[in-house]
This record gives sequence, structure tokens and C-alpha cells, in this order.
Amino acid sequence: MNIHTRETLKINEKGHLEIGGADCVELAARFSTPLYVFDEAYIRAMMRVYRETIAREYGGNGCVLYASKAFSCMAMYGIARQEGLGVDVVSGGELYTARKAGFPAEKIYMHGNNKLQAELEEALDAGVACVVVDSALEADRLEALCAARGKVQRVLIRINPGVEAHTHHFVQTATPDSKFGFSVANGDAARISSHVLSLPHLELRGFHCHIGSQIFEKDSFVLAAEKCLAFIADLKASCGFVCEELNMGGGFGVWYAEEDRMIPPAGYAEYLSALIGAVKAGCAKYGLKQPYLLIEPGRSIVAEAGVTLYTVGAIREIPGLRKYVAVDGGMFENPRYCLYGSRYTAILANKANEPAAERVSIAGKCCESGDLIGADMPLAHAETGDILAVLTTGAYNYSMASNYNRNLIPPAVLVREGEAEYIIRPQTYEDLTRNDILPARLAK
Ligand code: LLP
Repeated sequence: MNIHTRETLKINEKGHLEIGGADCVELAARFSTPLYVFDEAYIRAMMRVYRETIAREYGGNGCVLYASKAFSCMAMYGIARQEGLGVDVVSGGELYTARKAGFPAEKIYMHGNNKLQAELEEALDAGVACVVVDSALEADRLEALCAARGKVQRVLIRINPGVEAHTHHFVQTATPDSKFGFSVANGDAARISSHVLSLPHLELRGFHCHIGSQIFEKDSFVLAAEKCLAFIADLKASCGFVCEELNMGGGFGVWYAEEDRMIPPAGYAEYLSALIGAVKAGCAKYGLKQPYLLIEPGRSIVAEAGVTLYTVGAIREIPGLRKYVAVDGGMFENPRYCLYGSRYTAILANKANEPAAERVSIAGKCCESGDLIGADMPLAHAETGDILAVLTTGAYNYSMASNYNRNLIPPAVLVREGEAEYIIRPQTYEDLTRNDILPARLAK
């Protein structure tokens, strides 16, 4: 692997891995491990690539929404705000975090296939830009809540254009069998549109679609855009509705391991260009006004900006079978191998120039055999005490972490020009028991 093609990582003169100009071995010594590390410059570069592409190729008639489920914390909302992005939030908790970080409500889009009544109320009270409606129940609940408040809420409808993207089936979202979105093919999308148009307190602005995640084929995005515009044209013909906004979701793939494409930040402009090209072509074909265009990248903004640092502990070699290198993390801070069989690239940060001499399985410390960060990963000869860096862990790692086995969720630091600071402080044992209640009868 040639890490020099990744702008965020390099190997310094000590032979140590550096991220964003900070020596990973020093970070591990200063902040302890396990530790999530994020490179601010990379995150900002990715946000700018998308924003500038919309400005250049779509006359600025659109907005980049950071899909904050990828990594939601106050600092991320702060960066997104400074970079002029909007955000997509998918729960009351993400909305709360964004608002607490001072993120403007008028740039927040509220998602979710089963938003709770309380979450809809929170979204309305915050004054979010748009609610992305994903069920008839939700449309009716929202209408009632808006009527009671005497306000009109802008909404998009999530449609399912029926595009099969080449990715893990858990992260495909626009196949016929999906819990998300109204199917275009079976007429549900047209039916819910008429229903929402009949509701006096909802202002239908347009449509949203998200075909899945970790997708490299540009054609999947192009096809999704074509199908959305064909639907928009049909709807205009049948009921005269003019679509003002089109949100094409996220999903651009990132590099995790050998089999993935390695795309520098600037390369993502090509993906967005292809999408924009398809939107423009569709509008020209059907004689439609070009809608305000939204995209919702999450993973591609933050995944490659992150590494997780561990300390190597016990090493178990099972002759002829496998070598396990155990680290101080595991599925509680990175469940992606357990969930999806995800592949990663690992490097010994203190021996970053040493060639990957063997294949090992990196084991976590949780009480189950499946608790791996990865299986059969190429690695230099590891010894207890080495600092292991797993790359591309910025997206969907912290955000899916848990306190399984009452392990502490690691803190996160943000690196800028070689300087690191906490953006998520370390949990303590006290945090683990904060919400526990020991009834008196159980204390004696
Ligand atoms: N918009 C919507 C409506 C979404 O559901 C998602 C991701 C995104 C945008 C952002 O997609 P991205 O650019 O990050 O691909 N936990 C899984 C990924 C789940 C993706 C969920 N939705 C993983 O670790 O791979």
C-alpha cells in the first residue's frame, strides 16, 4: 500500500505514521489508546470539493448537507457550519447535538424512516429547513402538529427509484425490498405526493433519494438521477406539481483496503459532476426547471480523515492456522467487521516503514470470538506495546460505538497543523454507572 497517495497520512523521519502532521506514536503516548484521531484539513478539503463543484457546475443552486450520522459530535457541526454546509440529522439526538453546537436550524434537514412524534415536535420547534417524509403516518402526524402550531412546514418526500447499487446489502437502500422511501415503480411515490399536496400545513418542495453507501459506480448515481427526473416529469404532467428541490443523498465510496479505489479529495468532484450532469440532462430532456440540488455525503467527508490508534497486547499464534494480535479496542468502538465483514488497512505506527511481513487477525478485547477489527490483514511483525493504526475509521465507527462489556468508548482528538485537541473527552467508569439505579432492596 502506498499511503503517500493519501493526503492525510505520511511516514516521518522517525519511521512513524503521521496524520495531519501529528506523530501517531506521540498522540498515543499523550492521549492514551484506544484513540480516534481526525484530520481537520482533510474534512474541510472534502467539504470544499463538494461545495465548489456545486458552485462551478450548477451555478451554486444547491447545498451540501453533511450526513452527520457518519460522525456526529459538536465539533463536526462546527466545522460544517464554518464551511457553509447544511447537515442531515436522523434523530432527535443528532438534532440536539447540532443545535447545541450552534448549527443554524434553517440548514438542517430531518430524516428518518420512523421519526418519533417527539422528534417531529423537536424538528418543528427548532425550525428545521425541511422534514424528509418517509411514511403516510409521518405526513399525517406532521400535518396535525403543524396545524396545532399554526405553521407550514417544508417537506421533501423520500422516494425509492429502484436502483441496485453494488454494495453490501445492509447499506443498499433503493432496491424493491427496502424499508426506506416510496416506490416509484408501484405508484406509491405518486400517491403519497398527491396526499401531501392535499395537506394544507405541509409545503411539498420536492424529493429525496439515497441509493446506498460505499458506492464507486458513477452509473448508479446517474441512473438514480435519471429515474428521479423521469418521476418528477410524470408528476408534473399528471398534476402540475413543480419540483423545487431534489436531494440525491450520499453514498460515494472511500478507500479502506486494497480492493477499493483510492480517490484523492479532488477526485470526488468527478462523482458529483456525473450526478450534476445527469440532473441537467434530465431537466433538459423533460423541459423541467433545474431544481435546487442537495447532496448528503457522510462517509466520503470523514472516513479517510480518521484513524484509530491502539496498543498491541496479547499475541496468540495458532500454528498452521492463524495469528491473533489483540488490541485494547474491539467491536465496542468499531463494530463494522462484525456487522458487515468490512475490510481495513492496518499499520504499526511505530514501525511504519517495515514491510507487511505476515497476515494476522486483529482481535478486540470483547468476550466473543467474532470480535475482530479485521481478519487476515497484512501487517509488519507486531510485538506487545506496538502502536497499531487502523486507517479510514472516521465514519460510522464512533457513531456506532457502544459500551458493550462496559468498555469505555474511546475519546476523539482533532488534529490541525500537527496540533491535537480533544473533541470528545474520555469516558470514565462513573459515566458507565451514571444512569444505573440500584434499588435499596438490591443493595442489602
Ligand atoms: N443520506 C441518507 C438518507 C443516508 O441514509 C445516508 C447513510 C447518507 C445520506 C450518507 O451516506 P454516505 O455518504 O455516508 O455513504 N453504518 C454503515 C453505513 C450506513 C449508511 C446509512 N445511511 C457503515 O458503517 O458502512
